[in-house]
Amino acid sequence: MVTDDFLQKIAELQKRLDGQLKNYPFPQQPEYLYDPLRYVLAGNAKRLRPVLLTLTGQAFGVDEDDLRHAALAVELLHNFTLVHDDIMDDDLLRHGQPTVQNKWDNATAILAGDGLFIEAHRAISRVRNNTQRVGAVFNDGALAVCVGQAYDKEYEENQTITLNDYLHMTEKKTGAMLSLCVEIPALLANQDEGVCSQLRKFGYDIGKGFQIQDDILEIFSDADEMGKSLGSDVIAQKQTALTLMARKMAQEQWSEFCQRSEGQPIDEKLTGMRTFFKDSGVYAETTAMAEEYFNNAVSDLVVIPDPGREELVAFTNFIKNRNY
Ligand code: IPE
Ligand code: IPE
Ligand code: MG
Ligand code: MG
Repeated sequence: MVTDDFLQKIAELQKRLDGQLKNYPFPQQPEYLYDPLRYVLAGNAKRLRPVLLTLTGQAFGVDEDDLRHAALAVELLHNFTLVHDDIMDDDLLRHGQPTVQNKWDNATAILAGDGLFIEAHRAISRVRNNTQRVGAVFNDGALAVCVGQAYDKEYEENQTITLNDYLHMTEKKTGAMLSLCVEIPALLANQDEGVCSQLRKFGYDIGKGFQIQDDILEIFSDADEMGKSLGSDVIAQKQTALTLMARKMAQEQWSEFCQRSEGQPIDEKLTGMRTFFKDSGVYAETTAMAEEYFNNAVSDLVVIPDPGREELVAFTNFIKNRNY
C-alpha cells in the first residue's frame, strides 16, 4: 500500500535531492563546460534513483554524509547516461526541455556527459566507509550501462531478437543503475555478499519492470506528460517490449502491420500501433509482464530489515503506478 504519508515523504526527499543537484557547486568558468551541466540538472527529473538509494540507506542505518554523497553520485551518473543516450537516440526533448545537443550541439553534449560522469566519480569517492569496494561496484554498474546501450544499438532493425535478448539488454542498460542504488547503501552498511547479490537482483527486476513500462509509455503516453521525446523507438526501429511481444504473440499480423505502415508519417504509424497492440492483446500481455517483474522485485526485498522494507515495498509500488 502506498499511503499519503509515504507519498509526502517521497515528495520531500525528491525536493531535497533536487535542490542539492540544482545548487551543485560547479565553477562559473569555462561556461562551455559548466553552463550545460547546470542546465541538465535544472531539468524536471523525478530523482527516483537517489530517492531509492536514500530509502535503502536509511533502512540499513547508513551514515548521513556517506548517503548524501552516494545519492548525488548515482543521479549524476544517471544524467550522464541520459545526455549521451539522447545523442545516440537523436532525441530533442529531455526533462521538459531541449536536449543538450539540441540546444547547443553534439560536441557540447559529449563534453557535458564527460563532466557529469567525472563529477559522479568525485562524489562517490567521497564516501568514507568501504570506499574501495563501493568505487569498484560503481564502476561495474557504469560499465554495465554501456554494455546495455551497446546491445540496444546492435539490436536496432534486427528482426531475430527475442524477448529474452531484450530482457538481458534491459538488465544491463536499466537494471544495473537501479542495482547500484540498493547495493551501494548495503555496502555502506557493511552488509555481506548474500545481501548484496539479492539486492542486485532487486535492481534487475525493478529495472525490467521499469523499462518495459517505459517502452509502453513511449507509445501510449504523450511527450508533454513524459517531458521527453517519444516515438524515436519507432523511428529507429528499436526492439521494445511491445514489438517483441507482438512478434511472439501475433507474428503474421504484426509483419503485415509493419509492411502496411512502412513509410507512413510517424503520427499515423503510432496511432495504428496503439490500435494493433490493444486489439491483439499485446498491450495487456506486456503490461502483465512488467507487473510480474515488479512483484519479483517486492519479493527480493526480504533482505531489508523492517520498518525500512515496508517503505521500499511502497516505493516499488509507487514506481509501478507511475504514468510519466
Ligand atoms: C529514464 O529514467 C531512463 C530509463 C531508464 C528509461 P527516468 O524516467 O527515471 O528518468 P528521469 O526521472 O527523467 O531522470
Ligand atoms: C534509457 O534508455 C537510457 C539508459 C538506460 C542509459 P532509453 O533510450 O530506452 O530511454 P529514454 O526513452 O531515452 O528515456
Ligand atoms: Mg533514449
Ligand atoms: Mg536509448
